[in-house]
Amino acid sequence: MPLVPPYIETLEPYKPGKPIRELQEELGLTDVVKLASNENPLGPSPLAVEAVRNNCSELQLYPNGGLDLRQVLAERFHLKIGNVITGSGSESIMSNIIRTFLADNEEVLTSEGTFVGLYVLARSRGVRMVTVPLRHYHFDLPAIARAITEKTKIIYLANPNNPTGTLFTKKEFDLFMKSVPSHALIILDEAYFEYAAANPEYPDSMEYRYDNVITLRTFSKVYGLAGMRIGYGFAHDELIANLLKVKLPFEPSTPAQAAGIAALDDNGFLARAVAINTEGKVFLGQALENLGLEVVPTEANFFLVSLESEQEVQRMYDALLQLGVIIRPLRAFGLPHCLRITIGTQAQNEKLIHALRVVLEQSKVEP
Ligand SMILES: Cc1ncc(COP(=O)(O)O)c(C=O)c1O
Repeated sequence: MPLVPPYIETLEPYKPGKPIRELQEELGLTDVVKLASNENPLGPSPLAVEAVRNNCSELQLYPNGGLDLRQVLAERFHLKIGNVITGSGSESIMSNIIRTFLADNEEVLTSEGTFVGLYVLARSRGVRMVTVPLRHYHFDLPAIARAITEKTKIIYLANPNNPTGTLFTKKEFDLFMKSVPSHALIILDEAYFEYAAANPEYPDSMEYRYDNVITLRTFSKVYGLAGMRIGYGFAHDELIANLLKVKLPFEPSTPAQAAGIAALDDNGFLARAVAINTEGKVFLGQALENLGLEVVPTEANFFLVSLESEQEVQRMYDALLQLGVIIRPLRAFGLPHCLRITIGTQAQNEKLIHALRVVLEQSKVEP
């Protein structure tokens, strides 16, 4: 008798972007740029780093389960503390949602070409997952609505979506919500919220506090705290109360919680992070197009590039590694002919474009 159920035996684990040090060791390179994991090219919020330093003197004590950060978030977003949850990254909260609400015979519904972490979590639970094709690299909300059945328990929507960088509008979301029954829970994943918030068409989910919508946000992206593992969510207090039953009692860690609280006040860093991304988006979008690549316009901190085949993607990925640039192939996201490039600093973006030019020239010579 195998010790694991078949769906775990066949589960492909989440494979993160290649770490910089790994590539340095493999190829003996010193100058490596990682544009593979949508990390913040400015580094972490300085106020958050200072808060971490100042919150290490009582590490012998267990954390308080995120209570302080929940309080701060509740005040900031004019909610009750009972509407707020925190966790070790928004992915941890996503994992808790899967564990809390899904029964064995219920289904997860989402799009093809969305966040691979969700696919892995759903598969690890052994339930049926229904995926609807993207439409021009956008979530096809009408098609997702049509795919809802009485077994649908969780509907996952990422806005903006990773890895396409596209968003669905207020109008589209309003229409979609009309066809969602109350037995289906929507995860509205807003990991890239801050990059899209200025777009007037973007449906900031704080204005959509439906009883069956859970919003997830993170400090990993715009605040540069991916290594700290700190994220949060908003929902109806009954949903949060049930999530809190399942959540590991001592996450997030004390320094992570302090980092999150401090980051929320780091308006200067937030503005710089959004600004450098906006500049990089213009530069990189244009430069990629000038190289003749098919690029999807983005509302986030990365670009999806569509190539002719998975082989092309692999060839480009491998060739860029040789030149010290790490990007992300998207087979695991359900888009094998695509790759994703995180927007970096101007110097990083230029290094990428230079390397791409070299690789594209090489492929002309050796088809
Ligand atoms: C859409 C989306 N959701 C969630 C996450 C996970 O974020 P966290 O670091 O908060 O777990 C990511 C990270 O890449 C993401 O792209």
